[in-house]
Parts: sequence; structure tokens; C-alpha cells
Amino acid sequence: MGTENKEAWGSRIGLVLAMAGNAVGLGNFLRFPAQAVQNGGGAFIIPYLVCFVLMGLPLLYVEWAMGRHAGNRGHHSTPFIFGAMHKHSFWKYAGVLGLFISIGICAYYTYIEAWTLSWAYHSAMGHFMGMSQDQVAAFFKNYVALGTSEPIMVWVLCVALNTWILSRGLQGGVEMAAKIGMPLLLLFGVVLAFRGVTLTAGSHGAVNSGLLGLNFLWTPNFSSIWDPVVWRNAAGQIFFTLSLGMGSIHCYASYVKCKDDIALNAMSAGWMNEFVEVVLGSAIIIPIAVGYLGVDKVVEMTKGGSGFGIGFMTLPYLFTQWGPALSALSGIMWFGLLFFAGITSSLAMGTPVMAFMEDEFGWKRRNGALFFGAAVLLLGIPSVLSQEAFNEFDYWAGTIALVVFSLLEIILFAWVFGMEKGWKEITAGADMKVPIAFKYVIKYVTPVFLLIVFVGSLPEVWATLTKPVTFQVALARGLMVALFAGLSGLVWLAGRKKVTI
Ligand code: PHE
Repeated sequence: MGTENKEAWGSRIGLVLAMAGNAVGLGNFLRFPAQAVQNGGGAFIIPYLVCFVLMGLPLLYVEWAMGRHAGNRGHHSTPFIFGAMHKHSFWKYAGVLGLFISIGICAYYTYIEAWTLSWAYHSAMGHFMGMSQDQVAAFFKNYVALGTSEPIMVWVLCVALNTWILSRGLQGGVEMAAKIGMPLLLLFGVVLAFRGVTLTAGSHGAVNSGLLGLNFLWTPNFSSIWDPVVWRNAAGQIFFTLSLGMGSIHCYASYVKCKDDIALNAMSAGWMNEFVEVVLGSAIIIPIAVGYLGVDKVVEMTKGGSGFGIGFMTLPYLFTQWGPALSALSGIMWFGLLFFAGITSSLAMGTPVMAFMEDEFGWKRRNGALFFGAAVLLLGIPSVLSQEAFNEFDYWAGTIALVVFSLLEIILFAWVFGMEKGWKEITAGADMKVPIAFKYVIKYVTPVFLLIVFVGSLPEVWATLTKPVTFQVALARGLMVALFAGLSGLVWLAGRKKVTI
């Protein structure tokens, strides 16, 4: 069914930047610091690193290998990438999860992207100057309140921008966006992080030094190591930040030629993400916020673990303490950084969906991109209108589905496709020596680890499912079920010969 692989990456640096752009997202700058604070500060890093090594790195190898394997057979989306690994149709339908997750996350992710654009604009115009902290918070709450047109308009604009970039193809669109966005993001990140850690008590109204915040983040609190919730959150963060268990890495890797390296590329992109997350991600919002507000307030403000409160309501206010010029500049850099982080990730969620329509139904690229844009707009409406629906999408598509998907893919790769063949796939063309230990980790350790995470989350899933629901929650769930069913229907259609839609 698959058509010839016509698209390809323009250069190795372009591929690595695009993959790093895929992984580096809002998760690195908002979610990570908030999760670290909420899960015991320094103690979080131990479960986090263990999850990175035992789950993150092995899954990176697996997803890159699956992608290149199937891409050279003309498939770039997970239903048919899974299908290329084993012919039983169960796997094809398991792969539907990859498309489901991409659209499901993008439905609310692009909405946050819109906030970052609006906030860059308001910072540049000096709108936050002279506001009290409560006023900035109220400004944000009003902005996202039901019935205001600005966020909705900017959101539609963002989705249109994503669609347009996607329609320009891999090299002219995604790769170009990464080549522009990633260097700027790094530059802004380094400047802001420098500002965060050099903030001294007494200057510009700060009451503590920025280092106090950093110390707080990295001072171990070992008691939380025994808390299963901390482990679950660390695992969840590793999935989210590395874009694992979603189908977007497979898709990008499927455009790598069969003789080209994946092992070193996977490590370069993965470690770049960790650098941005652990070094830059922890050196901006926490040090600055602690510098002005103290540790207790920051702990209180990061409840919920999303980081939106500090990122959108507190930081713009704190920037105003630095005077009009610096405040505008910092706002542009901070929200610009978030925007570039966001868009290079949402493009990664769009590519597999577009590729699916191209490969399996022979659609033109532009139409595939429009299909994705339309799906995101439709599915995003509940999240735009209701916080509850937003959380629902984040929970099912952005948290639970990732674990299920990863568990299935590792079983498929290591046990169904077979680890001997799998190891050959990983090491073929490799520009680095992949430690042999990974062969065993991928076969035994990672699946068991994922199984534990999965089983461990079941009681919570059950409790969530059996709780009475509001209309918004029911609507969000209904839409997600419809999305999964609709995508499965398309996969079924694609499997029948000579069907065109
Ligand atoms: N990894 C991205 C982040 O940290 C999120 C993402 C999800 C990217 C799904 C691609 C696909 O924000």
C-alpha cells in the first residue's frame, strides 16, 4: 500500500535539530521544573535519571529503529510502522494509538502555544508594566476565561501556521523551523538562565538570590524516593519530555535512509533534550520566582505540576521589576522561547498524521496537512472552552496512552519482531558502539519497568473512570473515543486494496 519514500532530511544536523525540537517543548521549561518542585526537589532527579536510563534511552533506540525499518518500506505512521514489524492485524490497530496521541495532545498543546504568542506580544507592548502581581494573574485568568476572543483567534492562527509549515514538506518546513527555532531557543534560554542564577538578593527588588532556588531544586529530599507517586511522575515526565510513546520519533526516523546512522543521532537528540531540560529548564522559572517570592510560595504555586501559574502569571510580573526595556526584552525572550519550543513539538505531532494520509491514501502533502489542522481544530474546541476538558485530554492522551503505547511497542520490538533482529536494526550503520547491555535492558528490564508503571497506574485509572463526570468531561471523553474509532476506521479502509478517499 505504501508509496515510495520521496521525502528525506536535508542534512544530518537538520535531522538532529528537528528531533531535538520535537523533544524540547513546553515540557522542558514549564512541566519539568514544576514536577521537580512538587516531587521532592532534588530527590526527583534520582528516579528521573533511573527512568531516563532504563526507559528513556532504550525506547529512543527502539523508536528510531522501528521508524527507519518501516520508512524504507514506505510507511511513516505507527499503524503501518507496527504493521511492518509483524503482519497480525492487532499490531496495526495498536499503532492507531500513535495517531490518536499526536492529535489528542496537539488539541490542547497548540492552545498553550497560542498563549505564548499572545504573552510575547503583551510583553513587547509593555502591557504588564505597572500591574501588581494579582493584576497580572487576573489578566491571565480573564484571557483564558470563557468567551474572550483573543486566545481563540490566536489559537486558530497557530494551528494555521502549523498546517502551513507542515504543507511545505520536511526540508522546507519542519527542518527549516528547527534550524531557525532551536538556535534562538538556546540563545534565549542561556540568557534567561544566566539572569536566573545571577539574581542577587537586594538588586531589582529581589529578596533572595536565584541560587537559593537552584539549591532548593537540587537539595535531595530522600524520603520521596520511597514514594511510588514520585516514580510515576518521574516516568511520566521522561515520556512526555522525550516525546516517547507517541509515534512522532518513529515518524521522523522513518525518513532516515537505511544505511544511515540512528544510534548516535538518537543519543545526540536525546541528550540535547536532557541538557535543555535539566540545565536550562531548572535555571529559569524556579530561581527567578524563588528570588522574589521565596521557596514556600513557589511550592504552593507549582501545585498541579504544570508550571502554567509561574510561567504565565508570575514571571511577567517579576520581569516588570527590571524596568520597561529589560522587562519587554525578557518577556519576548521567555515567551519566544516557549513558542519555539512549542511549535517544533507540535509540528512533530502533525507529521505522522499527514504522512498517514499521504502513504495510505495517496493524498497530496497539502491535503494531509489540512486534514491534521482540521482535526486539531475540531478536537481542540473542548479544551479551549473548558479547563476540565483540557485536563481530560492531557490525562488520557498525554499521560495514560503513552504508557500503553510504549508497553505494546517494546513487546512488539523485543519479543514479536525479536531481539536478535531488533539489535541488528539498532546497530546497522551505527556511528557509535551501542553498549551491549542495552540488548538485555530492552528485552527484559524496560518491558518489566513499563509493566510496573502500567499496573501501578491502574487503580488511579479505575478511580477516574468510576467518578461521576461533568458534561465537559463526558464530551471530551466522547470525542476521544470517536477519534480513536475514526482513526481505526481509516486504518481499516487503508488495509483494503484500491480504496481512495
Ligand atoms: N516533548 C514535548 C515536550 O516536552 C511534547 C511532545 C509531545 C512532543 C508529543 C511531540 C509529541 O513538551
